[in-house]
Parts: sequence; C-alpha cells; structure tokens
Amino acid sequence: MTLKIGIAGSLGRMGRLLTREVLEKSPEVSLSCASARNIKELKSFLPNDCDAVLTDSPKTLVMESDVIIDFTVPELSLRHAYYATELNKRLVIGTTGFSDEHYQKLSKAGQSTALLVTSNTSLGITVLGSIAPLVKQALGPDFDIEIRDVHHRDKKDAPSGTALTLASKLSSDDPASLRNHQDLTLPCRNKSEIGISVTRAGGIIGDHEISFVSKNEIITLSHRSLDRRLFASGALKAAQWIASQKPGLYSMEDVLLKNP
Ligand SMILES: NC(=O)c1ccc[n+]([C@@H]2O[C@H](COP(=O)([O-])OP(=O)(O)OC[C@H]3O[C@@H](n4cnc5c(N)ncnc54)[C@H](OP(=O)(O)O)[C@@H]3O)[C@@H](O)[C@H]2O)c1
Repeated sequence: MTLKIGIAGSLGRMGRLLTREVLEKSPEVSLSCASARNIKELKSFLPNDCDAVLTDSPKTLVMESDVIIDFTVPELSLRHAYYATELNKRLVIGTTGFSDEHYQKLSKAGQSTALLVTSNTSLGITVLGSIAPLVKQALGPDFDIEIRDVHHRDKKDAPSGTALTLASKLSSDDPASLRNHQDLTLPCRNKSEIGISVTRAGGIIGDHEISFVSKNEIITLSHRSLDRRLFASGALKAAQWIASQKPGLYSMEDVLLKNP
C-alpha cells in the first residue's frame, strides 16, 4: 500500500524541496496533504495534476496522512506532535530551535506514537555525530573542543540545532556547558566546556566543524552540505522507516546506522 505523506509548511525553503521529493518518489509514496498559510500560493506551486489535500489546518494535515514531515517552527511542530498522538499518526520533525520545555513535550508524545526528531537528516552529520565521541575518547582530556557552525543569513536559530546536538554528544556535562568566547567577563575556560562559534552569512547551506585542540596539535572533523535536497531525501527516508515503528522518540542514528 502506498504510504501517504503530509508535508507541513510546503512553501518554506525545506517544505518546497520535501514536497518535490515526495512527488518524485510516487508511487512508492504519495503526497496526501500539503499545508501552508497561503493556500493560493500553494496551489500555484504544486503541479496541476496534484490531487493532495491543501490546508492551513495542522489537524487536517495530520488526519490526511500516515506520516507527517515537519520542517517549520517549534510552535507548529508541537501542534503536529499533539495531533499525531491524538490520531495515532507517525511524525518526522526536522525543525530546530526547541527549548527544554518543548523537548519534554516531544518526549511525552513519543510515549504514544512513533516520533523522530532530528536537527540534521544527512548521512554525513549522522556519521560525524557517532564518530566524534570516539575521537574525543581516544585523544583524552588534554584536548579542548571547539564547534563551528556556519549558515545562511536567514537562519532563525543560533547556535544551530546540529551544533547543539554535536555538543551534547561530546560533553561530559548534562546539559552540555557551552562557552561563548565573546563573553569577556568569563574566567579562563575549564576542561568540560565546549566552545561554540557561529557565522550567519549569504547563502551558505550549512557547514559544521569540530576541532580537538591541545597545546601541540589540532584535529578537525568537518562536514559541508552542498545541496539542501540532501536534507529532504534524508527526511523522506526517515518517514518511510518510521511508518512501521512502535511508539518511541527516535533519531537519525536509528534510521541510518542501527537499521541501514
Ligand atoms: N533537520 C534538518 O536536517 C534541517 C535542515 C534544514 C533546515 N532545518 C530546519 O527546518 C526549519 C525550517 O527551515 P527552512 O529553511 O525551510 O525555513 P523557512 O524557509 O523559514 O520555512 C519555515 C516554514 O514554517 C512556516 N511557518 C513559520 N511560522 C509559521 C506559523 N506561525 N504558522 C504556520 N507556519 C509557519 C512557514 O510558512 P510560510 O511559508 O507561510 O511563512 C514556512 O513554510 C528550521 O528550523 C531549520 O533550522 C532542519
């Protein structure tokens, strides 16, 4: 049976790519519903023969779909999570910028339905996140850790969700102690702090770098996104995977590394 996919925020940068990705993968999957605040613009974006339900209602989007893919804003993602639990639907969330309180709500939603929340759907960042703790462990305590996050000028959150996820995987503290080097009132860094620096400029899709720095050497792991479609194809892969999962809060590691 064809998997019915609903795309939230279909007119956003990611929403447009996700919508195209689903249409291209037909009949393996079908676009059952697309949401946007401007339905007239959404109609003109979609091909004439597209028979998806078009809506500005989060509840309708969830009702009309087996799996919803949401790359929007935290408030809207939480509404989709609420309806997904009410209506027993699966959800992939790529939105970033959630607060701790938001994460608690998402984690509660994961008790009733299968929910995947990820700050980055690419294979490269998923692999980077799994090898970086091994590099840290091999290098030992003499290395300071610095993370660099570089994105386009319109990105709303900083540091990026990906930089924060990488920091939490590398930190011995919970939550990770992040160091802002611009705050000159701080004393010298302590061993458990992870330095994060942010650049927002032009059209850069997303670069991340982790440097391990001792007094004598530097090791740098880096990832560069060359095409935003990378995130759309990763999200669709996640949607196809989560369709058959039991309730739980899942990550891209579950999709790409534990069940390749
Ligand atoms: N996980 C990943 O791999 C990954 C990759 C890239 C981006 N992201 C994240 O995905 C999110 C979206 O990124 P983007 O670049 O696509 O952003 P964007 O172009 O600004 O799109 C945001 C979308 O959210 C909708 N929206 C915003 N406020 C809304 C509201 N109050 N009610 C209803 N809809 C609302 C917008 O609708 P309108 O069109 O009506 O304004 C638009 O469709 C961000 O959090 C970004 O960090 C994640």
